[in-house]
Amino acid sequence: MHSLDTYAADKIQRLEAASLMRRLRPTRRTAGAFVERDGRRLLSFSCNDYLGLSQHPAVKAAAQAAVETYGAGSGASRLVTGDTPLLSELETRLARLKGTQACVVFGSGYLANTGVIPTFAGKGDIVLVDELAHACIWAGAQLSGARILPFAHNDTDHLAALLAEHRSSARHALVATDGVFSMDGDIAPLDWLSAVCEANDAWLLSDDAHGVGVLAHGRGSAALFPEAQIPFQMGTLSKALGAYGGYLCGSQAVVDLLKTRARTLVYTTGLPPAAAAAALAALDIVEGDPALTALPLAKARAFTQAVGLPAATSPIVPVIIGEAQDALDASRALEAEGFLVVAIRPPTVAAGAARLRIAFSAEHPDAEVARLAQLVKPYVKARP
Ligand SMILES: Cc1ncc(COP(=O)(O)O)c(C=O)c1O
Repeated sequence: MHSLDTYAADKIQRLEAASLMRRLRPTRRTAGAFVERDGRRLLSFSCNDYLGLSQHPAVKAAAQAAVETYGAGSGASRLVTGDTPLLSELETRLARLKGTQACVVFGSGYLANTGVIPTFAGKGDIVLVDELAHACIWAGAQLSGARILPFAHNDTDHLAALLAEHRSSARHALVATDGVFSMDGDIAPLDWLSAVCEANDAWLLSDDAHGVGVLAHGRGSAALFPEAQIPFQMGTLSKALGAYGGYLCGSQAVVDLLKTRARTLVYTTGLPPAAAAAALAALDIVEGDPALTALPLAKARAFTQAVGLPAATSPIVPVIIGEAQDALDASRALEAEGFLVVAIRPPTVAAGAARLRIAFSAEHPDAEVARLAQLVKPYVKARP
């Protein structure tokens, strides 16, 4: 065997032994939060399509019309010929939603964070990252070449202590956190983080991938903290907005610099027109139907009440199982009952903290939420 294949096969064997091997499973998503997998129809509690908008007739029609008008792909980097007119319209709409001067759209949320952080931080700077922040924030921090200082989850005292120790020797300081934590569903104390940043001339980046469309009438987690100063408001079009792509909302100067310097904007093809059109149609729905945007959190709260967990603060509810194999077994048991609740294992979460990550959608029938709660309750009770 070629040494490369030996290396890969050996690694796979070790991952299998630790119940950490992951495999792609072809999944056909359909309306009503259902999926078809291996010939079975399951109600999914693992999609981030919190409002079901990826299947909404108006969103799909907008994407189809954009393909007819502009074609399937955008053909080049936005700075060359890939800047379809839909993108500036989308940026205006997102900036309005977030209450910022300007916005820039990236190819994905991952590309946004890996482009934004290295544009504003480099050698001689510090990037302070919440320990539970999303992988693409860590990737952006690593790409920047700045010194990375992790701070304990949502711990503003620890953040302040790190800044007290390191801020004066660094040129710039950037603090990065999820607004809604993707695997835990809790919310960052953006007001306190902002106060610590303002006191230390540090720049706060909040990733609202799981907040936009579902918190504060769809405006996202930052809108829960109107006093907070958040110069980098990052997010994605790929979850509640049902499309694909990422964005950074901020001041005109910040956005102008990103448009000329962010490597993940300059050296990659622009977002396809269909994705931009779908996101625009989704924004119409989000802005026009606040009652819809409130449903995922309401369903999550009904679930946490039924199973005896603290009240949900976002549509994401983790049920910590512990070992990876136990989480897989729990997920399989729910699948047998017609529910798709994918097990989340290390390295996405810490060792010993494998879990069921339950994501609630506006489309989930209340009776099914109640039935899932009855099935999940024994796992909640089993915890010390
Ligand atoms: C908190 C967070 N940030 C960023 C991303 C990446 O966004 P995208 O899927 O648009 O690349 C995700 C999930 O994928 C996420 O959960």
